Amino acid sequence: MGVISSLLNKTHVVMDGPTHVQKPSTQRMACLSSDISFGIDQDPSAEPKCSITPNSDTMRAIQAASHHLTVLKVPVAIPTETVYGLAAPATDPGAVAQIFSIKGRPADNPLIVHVSSRRMLLSLLPPSYTISRTYEKLMKAFWPGPLTLLFPADPSKIPSIVTAGHPTVAIRMPSHPVSRAVISYSQVPLAAPSANSSGRPSPTKAEHVWSDLGETGKVALILDGGPCDVGVESTVVDGLTSGDGSIRVLRPGGVTVEEMQKVLARDLAEGEMAPRVLVHKRDYDDLEMEQHPTTPGMKYLHYSPSVPVLLLMQSPGSADGETLTDVVKDIVSERPDDSPALKIGTLFLSDSVFSGQVNTLDDVEIIKYDLGPRGSPLVAAQRLFDGLLKLEKEGAMYIFVEGIEETREGLAVMNRLRKAAREVKWIRSSP
Ligand code: TXA
Ligand code: MG
Repeated sequence: MGVISSLLNKTHVVMDGPTHVQKPSTQRMACLSSDISFGIDQDPSAEPKCSITPNSDTMRAIQAASHHLTVLKVPVAIPTETVYGLAAPATDPGAVAQIFSIKGRPADNPLIVHVSSRRMLLSLLPPSYTISRTYEKLMKAFWPGPLTLLFPADPSKIPSIVTAGHPTVAIRMPSHPVSRAVISYSQVPLAAPSANSSGRPSPTKAEHVWSDLGETGKVALILDGGPCDVGVESTVVDGLTSGDGSIRVLRPGGVTVEEMQKVLARDLAEGEMAPRVLVHKRDYDDLEMEQHPTTPGMKYLHYSPSVPVLLLMQSPGSADGETLTDVVKDIVSERPDDSPALKIGTLFLSDSVFSGQVNTLDDVEIIKYDLGPRGSPLVAAQRLFDGLLKLEKEGAMYIFVEGIEETREGLAVMNRLRKAAREVKWIRSSP
């Protein structure tokens, strides 16, 4: 039986007492990025050649994904460089609708469309639209990669279920060879949110997708491309609406504000000013937009494991704020007397300011996950979601996360943490 026909058999029969119960099953197929290469896009109007090692497991996995997407028209979980995505052909409203139902995602939250080439990007845009110089610079520097740009939407090309009826469509070109190869091989743009149940932390490993959507058979196929390099989602940028040439960061992500500022300050004409990069909630507010769910985390619960997350910030004054012992006492006081021993997960920097205080906590089991060295926000970003998911899986009843500096990838990390956290606690440095 060929790969494709074996994949068509999407249910298996399990013996459960005297009756046979049909249980959906999820396929997991390994993919190696080293089996995939792309030719240089010399001619921007051409599709760069995607080569996949013939007869490899990777080739079989990409063919199977393509078959699910274009023939069966069902979503597939694929790795991207940021997080795993739950992908469906962006041009097929029926397939996209399944993404919303698998995730339990509200219909008014639009999806990002993923392309594999500039040619595919252009095929989705209104014919009258001209790409701005700012966007050209950003795409040249960061595509393929973790940057999503808003473009005017053409409903004749992208159905409104993808954009949730908005006049704009969010588009990015992923750099992960597996996701890019799936798009290129299938020759179809893919709408893909993160491959998690709505509100949960984003998956950065195939096993995260498996635990959330695979075990229950909600998704037919997961391509396992190993852990994601970036670990937080793409930066979402709106360069359409400002009027003064500045760009707005709706969601900080894998491409940092500092990197974008640097690129936009290059190659300016005489007297030309670099466009400003404004970060939502830091540099500007947009009350109208905040009513809509298009700003991730504004309207809905986001990035949250099933246990409470507490964001711990070091108090600026050494005598202000609480001690970790105070925080734990509060938790204990709210628990019934017959509760099992308290297990707290800590997601702290390797050189955490709170380590000394943790060591003095009595009657608490501590499960540790290392967020990496201070001053390496790239590492914190890579480890954040894996840390939350691992501590949850290991039975932490509360997760304490150490706040980090909001520079470079730290801006995206803190954006996710503020949304994941039930509470922010200011902790004084001396117990
Ligand atoms: O890195 C990523 O961006 C990952 C991978 C899979 O590509 N995708 C991802 O998708 O994070 P999702 O759906 O979890 O987050 C996309 C966010 C949504 O919260 C949505 O509000 C915003 O992008 N978005 C999508 N289309 C938009 C639009 N037209 N205007 C404003 N925001 C938009
Ligand atoms: Mg998401």
